[in-house]
Amino acid sequence: MSLYQVRVAGTGRFLPERIVTNEDLTKTLDTSDEWIVKRTGIKTRHYAEPGASNAKMGAEAARAALEDAKLTVDDVDLILFATVTPDYRLPFCASLVQRELNIPNANGFDVFSGCAGYVQATQTASQFIRAGAAKTVLVIGSDIMTSIIDPKDRSTAVLFGDAAGCVVLTRAEEGSDSALLAMTGGLKGDDEVLVIPTGGSKNPLTKENYDERGHYVVMKGRDVFRFAVDRFATQISEACEQAGIKPSELKIVVPHQVNRRIIESAVRRCDIPLDRVIMNLDKFGNTSGATVPMALDEAIKNGRLDRGDYFIMVAFGSGLAWASALFRY
Ligand SMILES: CC(C)(COP(=O)(O)OP(=O)(O)OC[C@H]1O[C@@H](n2cnc3c(N)ncnc32)[C@H](O)[C@@H]1OP(=O)(O)O)[C@@H](O)C(=O)NCCC(=O)NCCS
Repeated sequence: MSLYQVRVAGTGRFLPERIVTNEDLTKTLDTSDEWIVKRTGIKTRHYAEPGASNAKMGAEAARAALEDAKLTVDDVDLILFATVTPDYRLPFCASLVQRELNIPNANGFDVFSGCAGYVQATQTASQFIRAGAAKTVLVIGSDIMTSIIDPKDRSTAVLFGDAAGCVVLTRAEEGSDSALLAMTGGLKGDDEVLVIPTGGSKNPLTKENYDERGHYVVMKGRDVFRFAVDRFATQISEACEQAGIKPSELKIVVPHQVNRRIIESAVRRCDIPLDRVIMNLDKFGNTSGATVPMALDEAIKNGRLDRGDYFIMVAFGSGLAWASALFRY
């Protein structure tokens, strides 16, 4: 039995201005609008300008989320930043958000575990709140995927975009219905399906491996596809069972925005109509850490959730890792 419960108090997002269409990509890649839309559902994505700061994008999303929650930086006592594209190897982005927003009293750290990292950060933030160790947490997911995607590799370049999202989680007041009801997650250790081969401590960056483009994401798309469909569906069943509800009672599902076909195949395996699944990947592509908070932000702003409704965040990614969090809003 936990001491306290968790409430989604506000959400926000930040998108770089530059929009890149499928048609734009055909100028430099052997691809087509038809192929990309049919295989992925993606039509446009936003790109950050070269030299943009991921930490600053995350800070902008956090600023918007705090305003939405009607809270100030004085309330924040923990900053979690989920990303795979930090500004630096050192220091980490949460500390730069603290400086950027001038947050006077906050602890914080980054969660660097791929596309499942945002939901893992949400789980972690919730445990701080449940244990009484934090009252107001900025859970930021932000990525500049264009910094790690090979612009010459058509199998990955068409999939990703840049963006930031933030959810403010707070301690639920006594008598409130808001709560985190279930969590799932797991790992299937792998460094072949979705990997950046060089630039880490095992294969430090050299001129040779840079020229071989080893500092970019290498992906076995079909393997990711199969893994994602399976983990998406089983996590929804497991989380609903833990929470003691039926999948059909979920008001909305907020999935990692990976690919329309993956999401549709997975939902077919669950007892959930497709119109309850929040999808905005047509506009933004896969923005890694930012997909789940941005989709939740859009759902709430469009009136898709009322207090007391059940919703689930569900994600998967490099690692291979998977995670879900089921809330009563
Ligand atoms: C990447 C993905 C869209 C590819 O779709 P797919 O149906 O599996 O296609 P395949 O990889 O089998 O490739 C089919 C053909 O399309 C080609 N192709 C790949 N990308 C292309 C592109 N952008 N435009 C045109 N053709 C392309 C391939 O070269 C291949 O050609 P070939 O048959 O002559 O060898 C799909 O596998 C996917 O979305 N996987 C999940 C990836 C992901 O989201 N990763 C992030 C997880 S966090």
